[in-house]
Amino acid sequence: MKISIFGMGYVGVVTAACLARDGHQVVGVDISPDKVALINRGESPIIEPGLGDLLKEAVQSGNIRATVDAETAVVTTEISLISVGTPPIAQGEPDLSYVIDVCKDIALSVKQKGTSHVVMLRSTVPPGTLEYCQNLMEQVAGKDLISTAFNPEFLRESSAIKDHDCPPYTIIGTESSVAEQAVRQLYDKVKAPVLVVKPKVAEMVKYVANTWHATKVSFANEIGRISKAFGVDGREVMNVIVQDEKLNISPVYMRPGFAYGGSCLPKDLGSLLYYARRNNVFAPLLNAVPVTNDLQINLAVEQILSSQVKNIAIFGLAFKSNTDDLRESPAVSLVKRLLGEGFQVKIYDPAVYKSHLMGTNLNYIQQNIPHFQNLLVATPKEALEGVDLAVTTHNTSEIRQAIEQASHKIKILDLVGVFIEKPKHREYESLAW
Ligand SMILES: NC(=O)c1ccc[n+]([C@@H]2O[C@H](COP(=O)([O-])OP(=O)(O)OC[C@H]3O[C@@H](n4cnc5c(N)ncnc54)[C@H](O)[C@@H]3O)[C@@H](O)[C@H]2O)c1
Repeated sequence: MKISIFGMGYVGVVTAACLARDGHQVVGVDISPDKVALINRGESPIIEPGLGDLLKEAVQSGNIRATVDAETAVVTTEISLISVGTPPIAQGEPDLSYVIDVCKDIALSVKQKGTSHVVMLRSTVPPGTLEYCQNLMEQVAGKDLISTAFNPEFLRESSAIKDHDCPPYTIIGTESSVAEQAVRQLYDKVKAPVLVVKPKVAEMVKYVANTWHATKVSFANEIGRISKAFGVDGREVMNVIVQDEKLNISPVYMRPGFAYGGSCLPKDLGSLLYYARRNNVFAPLLNAVPVTNDLQINLAVEQILSSQVKNIAIFGLAFKSNTDDLRESPAVSLVKRLLGEGFQVKIYDPAVYKSHLMGTNLNYIQQNIPHFQNLLVATPKEALEGVDLAVTTHNTSEIRQAIEQASHKIKILDLVGVFIEKPKHREYESLAW
């Protein structure tokens, strides 16, 4: 393919060299004449293992040239990649002006060219930027000439060529089949699964990936500090933790939904935080975990308060389905708050209904909702009778079917993703997705 790449920085120059090696014809565009001159001499403008050799070969083979002339670059190519910087301005806000300037340059040049062109945004940008750029370029070049995709870059400096060649996946954020095909063709030598998603999802994925990496580093460091205070080697601990690929390093617990609860998670985190405090170990990340967990319950209460209903059916009281364990269940906290706000509440939870609660479990619920037995009903149908709002805290097909089949008009607040698709003919709200 004939490709122009805007921005010959850490991302752009590695991408240019790899694509040229794979047989594509690449024009690198940068506003820095010094960078352009270096690349045209086959010299790398950055230090990156293997890049010097790759660039030299690409220049010698004639597969790469660099220029400051945006128009010629666009007119002589079929696809433009944008990898200019998006540095922070103030309070973390990214400066999108370099991306916007390049989009204007490309659109003006496509208008000159008069034939269709694909624009692939690779700079890290907030969700909605591709849509904004598409509209902007359409205003300049007219409709139908430009197709766009967001394709995040996952390379890491110092292993950039390896990461380019073997990424975890290729993400194509687009609504355009033309752009999708162009991106697929561009990377046909890259061995990685391809995921096609909405542009905003792809833009968010890049932010989340880096936020997750930062969180993991800080999590491991806080665990290291607390472990050390116990006289334990945190590296040994984390070495064992990462070997559990069923629960620890896995998709489990990694979906937005309701708060965590139960007899173990709040207790054991609380205990670890107690010992951290006692040993003067500052662990702000872990200390924030119960705070953000409570916020999830508050958010559910606020959504219910604003829904202007009086009678509510709660589907699930235990901390998860198929258990009668009510200790530290977020659903118990939710019901307690709703009763305090004066709502009429019915609860459907078959495991709790059938159970003979005793011991700490019984004590816990009696302390929080002494008359809970009066609120429990035997069937989902009974729970739904006469109520205006169904709130799901458990995710079961029985609950989904019962709510779908309810004969009267009922609102739904889904806290756990019972409904994958928004149900038709129902007022539906989800909590945090
Ligand atoms: N560096 C990384 O490891 C990495 C990895 C993944 C994603 N990203 C993202 O990729 C983007 C680029 O990062 P980078 O580190 O390569 O940036 P960089 O600052 O190294 O390079 C940006 C280049 O764009 C050029 N430029 C600016 N305006 C231009 C214009 N109008 N026309 C042509 N060129 C122009 C600059 O001169 C510079 O050479 C950022 O959004 C970054 O967040 C970076």
